[in-house]
Amino acid sequence: MADKTSILKEIIENRRIIKPENYNGKIIPEEILREILPAANWAPTHGLTEPWRFIIYSGKDGVQNFGRMHADLYKKETPEVEFLQKKYEKILHKPDLASHLIVIVMHRGDKDNIPEQEELAATACAVQNILLTASTYGIAAYWGTGGMCYHPSLKKHFGLRKEDKIIGFLYLGYSDKEHPKGFRHTGIEEKTTWM
Ligand SMILES: Cc1cc2nc3c(=O)[nH]c(=O)nc-3n(C[C@H](O)[C@H](O)[C@H](O)COP(=O)(O)O)c2cc1C
Repeated sequence: MADKTSILKEIIENRRIIKPENYNGKIIPEEILREILPAANWAPTHGLTEPWRFIIYSGKDGVQNFGRMHADLYKKETPEVEFLQKKYEKILHKPDLASHLIVIVMHRGDKDNIPEQEELAATACAVQNILLTASTYGIAAYWGTGGMCYHPSLKKHFGLRKEDKIIGFLYLGYSDKEHPKGFRHTGIEEKTTWM
């Protein structure tokens, strides 16, 4: 049997971002999602602020509702001269083949000694825990930040506060396509300084 280190390395190295246009529309059973999500809660967090929050759209109707809301927000908030029908359609249909869509939120805590960047870092760690765990269930995942992700109107839509941040959309589903090969521009040696 493989040892823990090699299992973990294999999971980390083979996790890939797979975009929703490559999904097949199959729905992830809710009990599987409920097994995956607790992994997020074990992310490291300075001062135990646990800043990650997740707004979950489930199933075909759910993800299409998100697409509609997102596209309508784009239309409403974009000056007519800048509005692109093609972009509207892209935002509208992006989640169509996904099973779930999770809006990733950094909920800013009230501990002044914890800098915002640490709460963003903790939330990103929580997302990585989801990505890794989802991959072990054969679930395809995509972390995207396009559309209205950073627009204040989206935070307003969800009743979030000024100090909270939406840091992306996590699309989940199943894909029949060949698992993509990983690619990195440089190895870790080139990003590492040993003192
Ligand atoms: C914070 C964050 C935001 C991202 N936003 C986008 C995005 O808007 N569009 C996109 O194509 N990929 C996005 N990605 C996914 C990356 O493109 C992907 O991780 C990268 O291509 C490496 O692929 P891999 O994760 O499968 O190794 C994002 C990833 C992160 C961590």
